[in-house]
Amino acid sequence: MNILHLDSSARKDESISRKLAKDLVNNLKKDNDQVTYRDISSNIPFIAGIKGAGFIIPEEERNEEDKKLFKFSDELVDELLAADTIVISTPIYNFGPPAAAKAWFDMVARAGRTFAYEPTGPKGLIEGNKKVYLIVSSGGVPIDSPVDFCTPWFKQALNFLGITDIKVIDASQLNKSDENLKKAQQEVNSL
Ligand SMILES: Cc1cc2nc3c(=O)[nH]c(=O)nc-3n(C[C@H](O)[C@H](O)[C@H](O)COP(=O)(O)O)c2cc1C
Repeated sequence: MNILHLDSSARKDESISRKLAKDLVNNLKKDNDQVTYRDISSNIPFIAGIKGAGFIIPEEERNEEDKKLFKFSDELVDELLAADTIVISTPIYNFGPPAAAKAWFDMVARAGRTFAYEPTGPKGLIEGNKKVYLIVSSGGVPIDSPVDFCTPWFKQALNFLGITDIKVIDASQLNKSDENLKKAQQEVNSL
């Protein structure tokens, strides 16, 4: 099994979502499993500045900057396609996902590689039984409440690519009490 582990909190050692994801990966990992780790909280370029229609620039028309962007995007897409299990940790920042997590998604949403435009509309191209564990931390916003635009966004974004088996681990409202954190830790320990 290949496990892809993605962290997106801007905090490092103090991050609760990172700690839960680390524990989860340790629990899921069996002897022969391969873990690919990527910190997506930084070093993911924004697609701003790319000419034309994003990632559909024909190969012969790509300038040096485009080529670099395509190469990096291919690397991220390859990691995603190779994974059987994907562990994503994310805090809620200003009601949504961190901008860095959105930047990562902008890199992996690739027409022709992860989704296709069909006559009936777009279709996710990621097949197989990929399982996603989405660990969501927040200060006050409850998961799936009307002001949580992070969890539904991740679900929609992943569904768009064809990934539908998503288990949310709720580490929200941490400023209020440690109740959800305890439950999340128990859930992680049970997996
Ligand atoms: C820039 C920023 C924006 C935040 N916005 C929200 C928010 O809109 N709603 C919320 O409940 N918590 C918000 N928080 C709190 C974090 O979601 C919370 O501290 C979470 O535990 C951070 O995850 P981490 O421990 O993995 O770093 C915000 C934190 C930061 C740094």
